[in-house]
Amino acid sequence: MPYADSVVKNSLAKRHVIDIQVIPAQQLTSTDQQSIRDLCAQAFGEDVWCDYGYLNSAFHVIGRQDDQIVSHALWTDRILSLAGRAPLKTAYVEYVATEPSMQGQGLASQLLRFLVSYIQNEQLLRTQLKVDELYQLAALAPEDSEFYQRLGWELWLGDLSIRQNGENIATPEDDVMVYRLSCTPKFAVTEDLSAEWREGEWW
Ligand SMILES: CC(C)(COP(=O)(O)OP(=O)(O)OC[C@H]1O[C@@H](n2cnc3c(N)ncnc32)[C@H](O)[C@@H]1OP(=O)(O)O)[C@@H](O)C(=O)NCCC(=O)NCCS
Repeated sequence: MPYADSVVKNSLAKRHVIDIQVIPAQQLTSTDQQSIRDLCAQAFGEDVWCDYGYLNSAFHVIGRQDDQIVSHALWTDRILSLAGRAPLKTAYVEYVATEPSMQGQGLASQLLRFLVSYIQNEQLLRTQLKVDELYQLAALAPEDSEFYQRLGWELWLGDLSIRQNGENIATPEDDVMVYRLSCTPKFAVTEDLSAEWREGEWW
């Protein structure tokens, strides 16, 4: 089984035990793909899955109980930049969802803690995902920032923009949160932050 040694058992307070795995999008089975899409639809209350090209290179973090996917998150690689500084290789997190009947039992918190620990583990990244360049930041656009704040994510307070064709397009309506990793350079959340353009939702 791919990445078997990345599977961990988590004993949760309400006797729920889940396996957590990281699986690159290209190695997901079609059954898992459909289960993730269904899980997100149930959690968000509508089919939110978009078949954007960048999701083909996503890394899925999957929590299973009795072989059923009960919680999910993914990250894709993006380049975020602080004004006037070197660009940062960023793990951009999306599609965080827990099956409605399993919510409130710590599953998504477990997955997110696992995710930030995994993307800082040089050896796992190299051997399991064939990723050589380390992540310098994690980021996401929250539906509601409180849940992530409790897990150590910080709301960006400075100006946000998207870089396209050499221009910066301001995105003042968006909320972005960041997580500082072991090799994140020092910064203040009041600085200006930008990301490269992508299809679909910019943040
Ligand atoms: C948000 C979500 C992923 C949390 O999953 P979960 O497995 O229930 O999360 P956990 O059990 O680890 O944490 C739940 C805690 O976060 C809180 N929480 C959940 N959603 C929240 C939200 N939108 N805002 C603030 N707090 C939230 C819960 O009240 C709970 O608090 P408690 O432990 O004090 O009772 C889940 O509610 C979900 O799938 N929501 C719909 C999809 C969604 O909004 N995803 C996030 C997109 S950014």
